[in-house]
Amino acid sequence: MELIDAMNWRYAAKKMTGQRVSPEKIDTILEAIRLSASSVGLQPYTVLVIDNHELKGKIHEQACPQPQIVEGSHVLVFASWTGLGTTQVDEYIKLIADTRGVTVESLTPFADSIRGNLLSRTVEERDNWAARQAYIALGTAMVAAATEQVDATPMEGFNAESLDALLDLPAKGLHSVALLAVGYRDAEKDFLASAPKVRRARKDLFIELA
Ligand SMILES: Cc1cc2nc3c(=O)[nH]c(=O)nc-3n(C[C@H](O)[C@H](O)[C@H](O)COP(=O)(O)O)c2cc1C
Repeated sequence: MELIDAMNWRYAAKKMTGQRVSPEKIDTILEAIRLSASSVGLQPYTVLVIDNHELKGKIHEQACPQPQIVEGSHVLVFASWTGLGTTQVDEYIKLIADTRGVTVESLTPFADSIRGNLLSRTVEERDNWAARQAYIALGTAMVAAATEQVDATPMEGFNAESLDALLDLPAKGLHSVALLAVGYRDAEKDFLASAPKVRRARKDLFIELA
């Protein structure tokens, strides 16, 4: 689907049919997340891909009582890294060196600039920064889903502490920041499926300085 057609087609479905999304389409969405941009390329988040009926039921019961959790096919949990430090930066530098066939030493100026920039921040600032990067991946996933004509409802309306506890995220250095329920809209039960999209006009949204 062309991008703007896909963006007009998509909406945050409130009711879903329970129909499964094919592994191929899920793979496309996950690959788009993997390729998403992040500040300095660190990707300071992990995405949990939940395709388990029982676990979705527990999430619905304990952390997010919205219907899409159980009516969707998959639930993606965007969890940002907490307490970001030198270990994660060092691993990233090693990944760049391995991927691009250069030495770790040659990347010292870049590594120092990341460390200097990140590690001078408070833990809270680093956690907020990591969460912002996760949101970029969330947006990328939504666009990818739309181009596949798969519905994807972003969600902040959940109890993050309860979800973290259920999925044992603190022990993994993670904190849930957003969910994405992936599935198919139930157009008959969801009045929003046919409601016109509400967006500010171009003249109100942009300040164009030519
Ligand atoms: C970060 C974020 C959090 C959201 N949280 C929820 C949510 O918890 N439940 C829900 O049904 N929709 C949620 N939405 C969907 C928005 O309400 C929806 O995107 C917005 O009203 C614009 O409409 P549209 O996306 O359907 O075109 C969220 C959207 C974003 C981007």
